[in-house]
Amino acid sequence: MTSDSERARGMAFDLVDGTLRRFDGRVAIITGASRGIGLAVAQRLVAEGGRVCVTGRRADALEAAVGGLGGPDVALGVAGAADDTEHQDAAISAAMDRFGRLDVLVNNTGINPAFGSLFEAEAAAIRKIFEVNVLAALSWVRKASAVWASDAAVVNVASVAGLRPAEGIGAYGSSKAALIQLTRQLATELAPDVRVNAVAPAVVRTRFATPLFDGREDRVAAGYPLGRLGLPEDVAAAVAFLASRDAAWITGQVLTLDGGRTLGGGV
Ligand SMILES: NC(=O)c1ccc[n+]([C@@H]2O[C@H](COP(=O)([O-])OP(=O)(O)OC[C@H]3O[C@@H](n4cnc5c(N)ncnc54)[C@H](OP(=O)(O)O)[C@@H]3O)[C@@H](O)[C@H]2O)c1
Repeated sequence: MTSDSERARGMAFDLVDGTLRRFDGRVAIITGASRGIGLAVAQRLVAEGGRVCVTGRRADALEAAVGGLGGPDVALGVAGAADDTEHQDAAISAAMDRFGRLDVLVNNTGINPAFGSLFEAEAAAIRKIFEVNVLAALSWVRKASAVWASDAAVVNVASVAGLRPAEGIGAYGSSKAALIQLTRQLATELAPDVRVNAVAPAVVRTRFATPLFDGREDRVAAGYPLGRLGLPEDVAAAVAFLASRDAAWITGQVLTLDGGRTLGGGV
């Protein structure tokens, strides 16, 4: 049996001068990371010693992100659409060429071009949502699996909209529910070599979520027991935990990040 002191020694490898360094020597690909949640995840992993490959469609935005992350020694940007398989190959090759290994994949890209009723949504829009939010995530995992280091981790960025119905974002929510099930299924299929987990945030202050709170943030925040909307850094902290060895015995789980919003207290 492992004693507390042995466990404490085991944890110590991630502390350098009292600072968390859980990603020292590790390399991550984070999709959709030129801003918002993806960029916050990249910042967190770099702050903890990691090197990152960040993706997004706009090359100029990625260039700015890479500069802010600390430049070419720690970050690399590869422009492209997350559901383009040639882009997926290019990003994985570029990360391997630059950094020599791959330990973590964060499937963060998610789109919602179909606000409104699921029942009335255009089939083409629903298809595109599932292509980017679900099928692309699976494809990234498959391609990363060809080059993984041992002890790899995937974190999928889902949504509370994938856990329960939400007005106006039903097609998006259905895709996130599929991403959550994909997380659980891959966790069983890829264990013990790769851990696969997800986070399910409620409203986080980013450009993507602006229509959900713009001009009425106080009112929206009042529905959150913790009294505020999420910040990208809130999500980044949870993603970093799940991607790190601190979560070595966790797989197939969905961590809800919602300031208590979905607790549904009261009578
Ligand atoms: N914000 C929230 O309230 C919230 C809540 C729950 C879940 N989420 C999930 O969190 C993830 C990130 O959202 P966010 O709020 O951080 O969004 P955001 O601030 O708008 O950032 C989106 C990022 O993804 C990139 N991107 C968008 N579409 C892409 C595509 N098709 N291929 C590649 N990159 C793409 C964007 O760059 P380019 O535009 O240059 O491509 C940008 O870097 C999404 O999966 C979203 O569903 C967000």
